Amino acid sequence: MSGRILTVAQQKGGSGKTTLAAHLAVALAKQSGEPVAILDVDPQGSLGTWFEAREENLGEDNTGLEFRTASGWGARREARSLAKSHGYVVIDTPPKIDSDAKPAIDAADFVIVPIQPTPVDLWATAQTVEMATREDTPALLVLNRVPPRASLTGEMADAIAASGYDALNARLGNRTVFAAAMGRGYAVTEDAPSSKAAQEVALLIEELVGRIG
Ligand SMILES: Nc1ncnc2c1ncn2[C@@H]1O[C@H](COP(=O)(O)OP(=O)(O)O)[C@@H](O)[C@H]1O
Ligand SMILES: [Mg+2]
Repeated sequence: MSGRILTVAQQKGGSGKTTLAAHLAVALAKQSGEPVAILDVDPQGSLGTWFEAREENLGEDNTGLEFRTASGWGARREARSLAKSHGYVVIDTPPKIDSDAKPAIDAADFVIVPIQPTPVDLWATAQTVEMATREDTPALLVLNRVPPRASLTGEMADAIAASGYDALNARLGNRTVFAAAMGRGYAVTEDAPSSKAAQEVALLIEELVGRIG
């Protein structure tokens, strides 16, 4: 098996990397039926804390995921090793992409870039997309924490398109259920399956799997 390595990266802190990584991993495991690994390269270890809560609430053998950590260039090696035995490897990265996240971007088949729809977030995105492009790795933007009915979101979607970036049509709204589910070690698709957020995640996964195969 050679699984796909998806690296969630974005220079901007707080953009939703860890939230998106957790949701992608849970949904991909469910939808593909293949083993999925998550790799936390961020020394802050938020994804690891989420996984520990998951183990506590679901039981160590029932998380449906394999969790590893790595640092520096060890991340590239670990990702490639995990891809031999997993259908997907989802990597969560720290904000400093030029140093800390580079090995994970280097190992990626696809870089997934969460972006909040504001001009400042779009500026920060350029560096992330450029690094992926230098590695010949496709970067897919995901609009996250999209506020309801904000005209700025439409303007930002236009600005993203004008920048030549590749953004998924599916978006995640600014919804507290994301934060609440994360705190319990779940994804919204598990913790709040009938929520709007869960619907958004389902659409996102459908589109993503269509794009990455
Ligand atoms: N779609 C969303 N709706 C509501 N809150 C969100 C959403 N995505 C992320 N958050 C919250 O935003 C904060 C930053 O998210 P996080 O995933 O930790 O970002 P990063 O890993 O990029 O620093 C967290 O408090 C998280 O719960
Ligand atoms: Mg994080």
